[in-house]
Amino acid sequence: MTAKTTKTTAKKTTAATKKPKTNSKTAKAAEKKKILFVASECTPFIATGGLAEVIGSLSKALAATGRFDVRVVIPLFSDIKKEYRDKFNYLGNLYVHLAWRNQYCGIFEYVNDGVTYYFIDNEFYFKRPGCYGYFDDGERFAFFSRSVLEIMPFLNFYPDVMHCHDWQAALAAIYLKTNYCFKEEYQYIRALFTIHNIEYQGQYSLDLLCDLFDIYEGYKYLVEYNNSINLMKGAIECCERFSTVSPKYAEEIKHPYYAHGLDPIIRKNEFKLTGILNGIDDIGYSSTHDTHLFANFTPEDFTNKAVCKSELQKMLGLPEKPETPIVSMVSRLVSHKGLDLVTEVIEELLWDDVQVIILGTGDSHFEGYFRDLANRYPDKMSANIVFNGDLSRKIYSGSDIFLMPSKSEPCGLSQMIACRYGTVPVVRETGGLFDSIKPLHNGYTFANYNAHDMLFVIRKACADYKNKEEWSKLMYRAATTDFSWSHSALDYEALYLDMLNN
Ligand code: GLC
Repeated sequence: MTAKTTKTTAKKTTAATKKPKTNSKTAKAAEKKKILFVASECTPFIATGGLAEVIGSLSKALAATGRFDVRVVIPLFSDIKKEYRDKFNYLGNLYVHLAWRNQYCGIFEYVNDGVTYYFIDNEFYFKRPGCYGYFDDGERFAFFSRSVLEIMPFLNFYPDVMHCHDWQAALAAIYLKTNYCFKEEYQYIRALFTIHNIEYQGQYSLDLLCDLFDIYEGYKYLVEYNNSINLMKGAIECCERFSTVSPKYAEEIKHPYYAHGLDPIIRKNEFKLTGILNGIDDIGYSSTHDTHLFANFTPEDFTNKAVCKSELQKMLGLPEKPETPIVSMVSRLVSHKGLDLVTEVIEELLWDDVQVIILGTGDSHFEGYFRDLANRYPDKMSANIVFNGDLSRKIYSGSDIFLMPSKSEPCGLSQMIACRYGTVPVVRETGGLFDSIKPLHNGYTFANYNAHDMLFVIRKACADYKNKEEWSKLMYRAATTDFSWSHSALDYEALYLDMLNN
């Protein structure tokens, strides 16, 4: 977006300087707790994964309670579609200092469904395709995090809780504690840091401490880990509380198998750790209303799910066999999603009366493997090596069994989405998969990361599929499991209040 240079002050709120009004609406607004989400992505503007969905749907759910003034700040990436950008209001700009740098920071605003969104504009950092993967990502997100704190006086908005998500927002919590909390307006801001995936920690050379991250040498101990800068570690040390996206994952990351080296830090700080299971946008994922489906259906009447299945088989060139169970995966094709297990036993599975559908992109050896398999088993296997939101919904709704055998899964949203469409998940008991899928209640599970344990459970599900009466009950229980934010938003509310009262 074009960097405008004149500062527009018209939209700035000046509530702090105004006399308090007495009408009940204002009093009510004043009672609302102010929450600022700091993240790198948010639906519907920009999404590369589950993080964006959580930021988009949790913020709306909290705002809908009427008890929070919820605002979200993300970078203005150039991939944010024009249809949204056209609706953004330019609020003004300021210059953000970071060590010897002094960078333009434009601020755009958009209000929707009770949530206020801010977009940090700097074309040098964010006018590039995609969100991540650049040599200067550390600098880009340091600028972003610093801007989050710098725009507060401009907006006259100092949140009660600054809720930072993943390593890209870690520096906002670090800067708050190292630079800003000594200033009067910032002193009551509490920082909550949520880990969506501990694998990505933001690790950089220690040489960059002062010159790039602008962290005073005396605070090196906060961010230093294994002789490098580790931003996730820094945020865990600096925040008042931290959380993960499922209770099970909060337990798991205390152990080396899951923690990607951070387990000593997690254990040291476990007194401030909570796990809250993500919800999903249950209106966005509804078999009754989803316009991407071949036909809509309800948990009370799955008749049209058969239409979804046969149309999907037709579309993907599979024989239209209503009685053959379809096992599907919608996943990044990487090893920690359990693809090692799948490649180990999928040919054995394909000897059975079954059809397998894969959708996703990822490591080239997995992509090649599934393409080859689809060529060898054209009547049983469909490999769709693309990212396609429309097709994903057709697969969720047209399949019978949804496979998610992750090695680790902080929360996972796909198993919940599959349930919403009456497709029964088979998952490994890890992280949010463990917390959301209960054996024989709404899916099937296996404990060990073992290919034949997985195969055994898939076969059990395929056998049970033939028992139409029992299977319908299972589909019903899966489709009616409450994955909305109604519970988890209350858990976040309790966590925020706890932070504010302590
Ligand atoms: C990350 C995790 C995933 C989680 C999502 C949202 O993408 O890998 O398990 O569902 O964040 O929290």
